[in-house]
Amino acid sequence: MHSRMLFTLICAAAVAFAQGGGGGNGGGRGNGPNPPLASLKTVTVPQPTGLGNYVQDEQALVVLGKALFWDMQAGSDGRTACATCHFHAGADHRLQNQLSGADVAVNQTLTAADFPFRKLANTGNNNSAVLSDKRQVAGSMGVVAGAFAGVAAGNAVDLSTAVAVQSQFAWNGVHVRQVTGRNTPSVINAVYNVRNFWDGRASSVFTGATPFGDSDRGLHAVVLRNGVLTREAVRMENASPASQAVGPALNAVEMSWAGRSWPELGRKLLSLTPLARQKVASTDSVLGQVANADGNGLRAEFSYRALVQAAFRPEYWESTAGVDGYTQAERNFGLFWGLAIQAYEATLLADDSRVDQFLEGQAGALTALEQQGLNTFRGGGSRCLNCHNGAETTAAGWTTVRLRAGNAATPTNAGFFRIGVQPIAQDAGLGAADDFGTPLFPANVAGAAGTFKAPSLRNVEFTGPYFHDGGQATLEQVLEFYDRDGDFPAGGNLGPGIGGIGLNGGARAAAVAFLKALSDDRVRFQRAPFDHPSLCVPNGHVETAPGQLAADGPYALDKWALVPEVGREGLAVPLQTFEELLQGIGNDGSRANTMTVTCRP
Ligand code: HEC
Ligand code: HEC
Repeated sequence: MHSRMLFTLICAAAVAFAQGGGGGNGGGRGNGPNPPLASLKTVTVPQPTGLGNYVQDEQALVVLGKALFWDMQAGSDGRTACATCHFHAGADHRLQNQLSGADVAVNQTLTAADFPFRKLANTGNNNSAVLSDKRQVAGSMGVVAGAFAGVAAGNAVDLSTAVAVQSQFAWNGVHVRQVTGRNTPSVINAVYNVRNFWDGRASSVFTGATPFGDSDRGLHAVVLRNGVLTREAVRMENASPASQAVGPALNAVEMSWAGRSWPELGRKLLSLTPLARQKVASTDSVLGQVANADGNGLRAEFSYRALVQAAFRPEYWESTAGVDGYTQAERNFGLFWGLAIQAYEATLLADDSRVDQFLEGQAGALTALEQQGLNTFRGGGSRCLNCHNGAETTAAGWTTVRLRAGNAATPTNAGFFRIGVQPIAQDAGLGAADDFGTPLFPANVAGAAGTFKAPSLRNVEFTGPYFHDGGQATLEQVLEFYDRDGDFPAGGNLGPGIGGIGLNGGARAAAVAFLKALSDDRVRFQRAPFDHPSLCVPNGHVETAPGQLAADGPYALDKWALVPEVGREGLAVPLQTFEELLQGIGNDGSRANTMTVTCRP
């Protein structure tokens, strides 16, 4: 440890990279000092360009977006919402059947002993003996595999044809829910990311149907002008959340049976009452005004069709003529979906943590230990500000990107770094290509290999497990990871900016205290704007005996856990952290979302 501290001092002057913040190897971004930490209230929320061409009522757009995000009817199984994986501080802390990868048995339950996934003889030395190393990812359960075969109007469950029971997400001939290949990040503050997803593939340019920005040249909107329906291209900047949102809805692991299209999802949802199988609090900050008096879903007059018509300009939905067998509104559903969800996410701003208050000048907002942690975080020895800089606590936020590149419509690698969470060969991150074959960072594909987006650190207390592989359960483990300068030191897995970090036990403890002060109490207690409808989430599968899955036809029987509805005033008890869930702390009712109450979807 001491030799490394010394190394840090000697090399401090040589770390020119600390001034770059661009990540990757030679991303070609301009140099200059990193923007300082600041209150997030100082950052303007990005607004998609040209929104008024499509939208006539932005408040109605938020109502639509919140309903779509939380609605279980959106999934092909009629049970999987965006929120199914983003219900807990915008992320997911479930434990059972959450693993994907080579070393995984289906329906495993995570325990504290599983973390970190790579165990070393000396946690301070990334060259010390490897005690165990699991090729696995703590992701999120999505849908069982299915082939899409159409929708039946008024029915939330899509039609499907059986598919072969494939190896990884099946056991003894029954399908289990598939699990994502990466850990679920939070949707809170995601609107501040110039590019979304760990690998940045959700472009800041939204084109109406896929996440991939300018690499998708399709004409994805149909507009009525002078009585004539015309196909047109959509191209809006500052719109990564919209680009992101059109990914999962049709994804055959997350929400959809394979082969579903936007018009088909539109056809289903436009025939349904929003949130029909879920409870909405009459005091919900957005949905309360349109909720049913009996608490079940929205009132009949606020159907999805009505919400779309309130939010969007008539030239995008009013035609009664068919387009390829679909109505105009069905054809434009990807556009509606993306813009509505971005508008909702643009309300999920957690900018009032005690750190924000302290940076605004309230000296008493942080304890002495937290201030010490802030100094550690800002100090040269930790290197945190190489990558987690600006008010967003990430160089992938608008503040740093504008400073470096000016124009974020060009794919940027600002904020993407290779820190040795996994070997490059395991996951190429920003070095991969999108579904059209376009590299995610065309300017330097090789340099981008194995780099991932530095996430925002606000509310990180509640968003474990950590990193894109979900391989660390606690913030202490994350700080130990940094103290040893990351894992997998051989083979180029450690890029610029990660070397020479020195954090003794005291510095780590202070840094953890600081990271926990980045929580916004409105998130902690689920107060507006973080209040929400109820949700029934799958929580692993039923086993009749250890390793023996109970079958429900071709599918493994689900266990379900209730996430109760919360109104604008929030709850009296805080969210449970991932660490607490692992240890069963708070299951006595002193924490929220403990996954202990069952439900039937
Ligand atoms: C089955 C679980 C699951 C569902 C359902 C799901 N997500 Fe996610 N979400 C994830 C995972 C896993 C990632 C990270 C994937 C990656 O980066 O490759 C992610 C990433 C994101 C991000 C990026 C955040 C960041 O910092 O980069 C946003 C925003 C998001 N999801 C919103 C949504 C929306 C909106 C929906 C519904 C349309 C949705 N998610 C549905 C699991 C899910
Ligand atoms: C070289 C750039 C770099 C440096 C230096 C760095 N980080 Fe990170 N940080 C990242 C990246 C990139 C990720 C995501 C890595 C991944 O999952 O592959 C990350 C992830 C994290 C996470 C996990 C967040 C989550 O939601 O999973 C925490 C916590 C964190 N960093 C805190 C810190 C602290 C504290 C420091 C200083 C001791 C620090 N980081 C230094 C780039 C960096």
